[in-house]
Amino acid sequence: EKGGYEHFMLKEMYEQPKAITDTFSPRIKEGKIVIDELNMSDEEIKAIKKIMIVACGSAYHTGVTSKYILEGLARIPVEVDLASEFRYRDPLLEEGTLVIIVSQSGETADSLAALREAKARGAKVLGIVNVVGSSIAREADNVMYTWAGPEIAVATTKAYTAQLIAEYLLAMKFAYVRGKLNDAELAALIDDMRKLPAQVEMLLNNKQKIQKFANRYLAAKDIFFIGRGIDYAISLEGSLKLKEISYIHSEAYAAGELKHGTISLIEEGTLVAAVLTQEELYKKMISNMVEVKTRGAFVLAVTNTENTEVEKAADYVIYIPKTNKYFTNSLAIIPLQLFGYYVSIGRGCDVDKPRNLAKSVTVE
Ligand code: M6R
Repeated sequence: EKGGYEHFMLKEMYEQPKAITDTFSPRIKEGKIVIDELNMSDEEIKAIKKIMIVACGSAYHTGVTSKYILEGLARIPVEVDLASEFRYRDPLLEEGTLVIIVSQSGETADSLAALREAKARGAKVLGIVNVVGSSIAREADNVMYTWAGPEIAVATTKAYTAQLIAEYLLAMKFAYVRGKLNDAELAALIDDMRKLPAQVEMLLNNKQKIQKFANRYLAAKDIFFIGRGIDYAISLEGSLKLKEISYIHSEAYAAGELKHGTISLIEEGTLVAAVLTQEELYKKMISNMVEVKTRGAFVLAVTNTENTEVEKAADYVIYIPKTNKYFTNSLAIIPLQLFGYYVSIGRGCDVDKPRNLAKSVTVE
């Protein structure tokens, strides 16, 4: 059932190009984004005043990414919240708030409770869910499925990837309907989306290089992930992926926060993975990389091919191909997933079933 792969996680990483295609292709028709399941008229989309994205774990990380995209493209204010926080904090859901619950399993206890809380307060709830017919899918007002197929490995990869695509589609749809994207801009985004599966495939095929690199860090004590903007969201996911399956302590920081405390943790040889895919933030990131490097860190950079300056501040660089600035998470996460995977198997951990974790967290 692992289809010739050694682990479910590796198999599922390799299913990402298909998960991307299956999630977007039924929703692009004649150059427009058509999300029938949304059940919202253009008038209703125009009336959205605020979006709250509520989820746990990696699904929450897709929400952090989407905040940048929905705000950047559609100019709608977005709040992202952890379901376990949202449900107990007496959230303000004024008229015009759309609540989006993101969940692979559709059974996560806190996410389901958050959904019920939002509905009880009169908000419209959209579920972005992978498991068809799951509790969240059934109870949400509307459900947009991520067509990633069954995911077995505890560490999510393809469902995360498909969630991102669903959220990009929503942002594009909302931006277009609200007049923030013209036809040419929408066409360019769709074009870039269609290229993602082949680009992901290409990055996956780079796995030997990452395995070699990962093998140098099997005994690491701490690993840090840093980024700004969308790259901060990618760092959150890269860090979680590594720690949950390798049991190495890792943390993600918004790069600008380093000097407010974290930088004191950097020692000779500490690995810092810097994600820099946002051109307007390259310079700021490079200065953060120099700051950690001068304190002894070994800096791994994940960046775009055209970023020629990066080598000045990085010890090792992984390049991702060109895509729209809002889609970079879909590419930059691939080497970070592979890194977590290879560190985990290199350390002899049970990569598909890490200790203390369950695939779906149905208790609080
Ligand atoms: O099924 P869900 O998407 O609601 O699950 C949310 C989290 O439990 C999940 O993403 C978890 O963080 C994964 N182990 C991450 O790889």
